[in-house]
Amino acid sequence: MTDRLHPRTRMIHDGSDRRAFGEMSEALYLTQGFAYASAEEAEARFDGSDPGFVYARYGNPTVAMFEERLASLEGAEACFATASGMAAMNAAMFSQLKAGDHVVAARALFGSCHYIIDNLLPRYGVETTLVDGTDLDQWRAAVREGTVLCFLETPSNPTLEIIDIAGVAEIAHAAGAKLVVDNVFATPCYQRPLELGADMVMYSTTKHIDGQGRCLGGALLGSKELIDGPVLEYMKHTGPAMSPFNAWVMLKGLETLYLRCDAQASNAEGIARFLAKDGRVKRALYPALPEHPQHNLAMSQMERGGTVVALELADKRAAFGFLNALEVAKISNNLGDAKTIATHPATTTHQRLTEEDRLSLGITQGLIRLSVGLEAEEDLIADLDRGLGAT
Ligand SMILES: Cc1ncc(COP(=O)(O)O)c(C=O)c1O
Repeated sequence: MTDRLHPRTRMIHDGSDRRAFGEMSEALYLTQGFAYASAEEAEARFDGSDPGFVYARYGNPTVAMFEERLASLEGAEACFATASGMAAMNAAMFSQLKAGDHVVAARALFGSCHYIIDNLLPRYGVETTLVDGTDLDQWRAAVREGTVLCFLETPSNPTLEIIDIAGVAEIAHAAGAKLVVDNVFATPCYQRPLELGADMVMYSTTKHIDGQGRCLGGALLGSKELIDGPVLEYMKHTGPAMSPFNAWVMLKGLETLYLRCDAQASNAEGIARFLAKDGRVKRALYPALPEHPQHNLAMSQMERGGTVVALELADKRAAFGFLNALEVAKISNNLGDAKTIATHPATTTHQRLTEEDRLSLGITQGLIRLSVGLEAEEDLIADLDRGLGAT
């Protein structure tokens, strides 16, 4: 559809590929293979002169509709949908790197991304340097000849640190490296890293894009040259493709993505203001709060503060007291769901790190991450008040 239309409109219509019945809702093609009309057609599909489908590990019509719709929202030339967010992150790294290369990444990362950078890549001869992502001088000092990729997540999980995407892109490009951004927390509604200079964007579509806690999924977006080149080559032969069923769920999720994110972000703003004023809370973190240490940077590269709020209580006892008193919010570890989720990162998502590493990331035993859902704001605030009463 035309670029003149607002992304909110394109999210409803782009990527629709109607076939024989003129079906309104996109069809679910639950097939891994495709029959060819002739041996010549099969040959042409395999040599690429006929762009039709070959095998679901490479592409499938329902998955392609999802990829086209997400690429339209992101303003990307191309997209490859994966089985999970981690499959997308893994492919972003392994499709680009070889032994002897160097990667610079922000230290504040989702636990499994941290594992790939810090444990897995070095096993294959890739040297990695972790920096404080908020300090551009540290990126400048870390890049060198042989740096192929820079990787960051902003806002970061779970402390909601903000990294200057355009600033890091400039440093990466000057060193001949590419920048990959994990845009899960910001969502494609509120931050478009490609427009800020990033080369690839990755999503866990498990989060806001599904948005109702059903399916795992991921996506990698960027230029045609990158995504339809080395990324597709890697995906074809290693098999992390998204299933057609999950792609169908995600495709329908995109239709309501703005609506849900806007309602969740409004709830998050109200909750952040409530927590910031409450004396029982040591610190409330939310990028759109003026008190956030990087509020100005956040608002210069994000349209809204997002759907996640973090709060710090005195210690683990207070954090567990808070969690166990909640009645509406659920104790779990996903985010971006319609249901509000409260997480204690130190003992769950970031348990694998040492206490020293956690503290260097600001993950104290009193820290709680709240993924704010679609419930009525007053019920959520009453629930949090109940939780704070038990700290
Ligand atoms: C910021 C971030 N990146 C990546 C992932 C990984 O996504 P998935 O669980 O879909 O593999 C997550 C999951 O929690 C995440 O929060």
